[in-house]
Amino acid sequence: MSAFWSWWIMGLVVFNMGLTFFLFLWAPRAKVPVLPDGTTGHVWAHGVLREGLANLPRWWIVMSFSMFIAGFIYLYRYPGFGAHKGSLGWTARGELAADTAANDKKLAAAMKGFSSKSIEQLSKDDEAVGMGEVLFRDNCAACHGRDARGNHLLGAPNLVDHDWLYGGDGNAILTSILDGRHGAMPAWGAQFKDPDIANLANYVRSLAGQPHDKTKAAAGKELFTVCAACHGPDGHGNTAIGAPNLTGTVRLYGGDLETLETTIRDGRGGTMPSWRERLGEDKARVIAAYVYLISHGGSTATQ
Ligand code: HEC
Ligand code: HEC
Repeated sequence: MSAFWSWWIMGLVVFNMGLTFFLFLWAPRAKVPVLPDGTTGHVWAHGVLREGLANLPRWWIVMSFSMFIAGFIYLYRYPGFGAHKGSLGWTARGELAADTAANDKKLAAAMKGFSSKSIEQLSKDDEAVGMGEVLFRDNCAACHGRDARGNHLLGAPNLVDHDWLYGGDGNAILTSILDGRHGAMPAWGAQFKDPDIANLANYVRSLAGQPHDKTKAAAGKELFTVCAACHGPDGHGNTAIGAPNLTGTVRLYGGDLETLETTIRDGRGGTMPSWRERLGEDKARVIAAYVYLISHGGSTATQ
């Protein structure tokens, strides 16, 4: 806080508290003119209501005075009086840090029993998958969707379709989360002219049993040898490098001709961030258990 704002706030506090304190001391002593009948002479409702005069009740005076004392003590102990930090050294940030540390401690205690179990075993533990679900919503849903069904625009795979880029056993899922993944599909636009790219796209659609142009697909099949190095001779993919299986209808980026041509011409490079630093192994394991559960036909209580 700059010196100006500090002084400004101190000025306001002194002015406000000073004014109220003055009124508090002055009001009981103030002389209000009183008529012989004991009223002030103010009348309402055509004289039916007349304003009387009474002393403030004692409890009210005691309570107001205690409020002043409480206010002074508060301003002395906590930040509030300009740049004065308060004698307790309290800060909102410090309180948050203490809360977070206490929470992490509780979480670590809960996680203790989990570290000896495999991801497959953890996926049967309601408490673990419950935590995993919450963490998934916070960290993963932005790309993979709340229902984990992926996002074609980001190339974030559907995690519940039984079609895996890198494998769907517990360890493969955990490795994807901890280390991240990067799929590198080269761009072929420099090597192939547009008609060839269209032929390849038709061949990819034929692999998936989708409507295609037979002549173009046959021509594309001839060219597919360069693709086979990664996607396999029959297009079944390779989980070691995350080359997708092209024979099913499951697509990272969409399976219409135009999207396939764009993929082949310009290449793709879907990136799954690494979570080791951000979440740590314990949290990654309960998320992996949750992903394992929902991708193997199970569901949690909240779904
Ligand atoms: C920034 C977007 C993004 C976020 C956030 C993200 N992912 Fe991913 N994830 C991806 C992309 C993109 C891929 C595909 C990588 C590739 O193409 O090789 C992927 C791949 C995966 C895979 C591999 C799937 C397979 O078929 O083998 C798993 C498992 C996975 N993510 C789980 C998670 C979990 C769990 C989280 C949260 C901790 C998460 N992801 C957060 C974008 C994201
Ligand atoms: C160097 C290995 C490699 C080669 C060679 C390769 N690809 Fe790929 N391809 C990949 C990878 C890895 C991905 C996944 C990209 C990602 O994760 O973003 C991919 C993705 C694709 C996709 C998108 C699939 C989807 O689910 O949306 C298509 C289509 C495709 N490749 C077709 C081809 C064709 C056709 C060729 C040959 C002209 C080819 N690829 C050559 C590695 C390769």
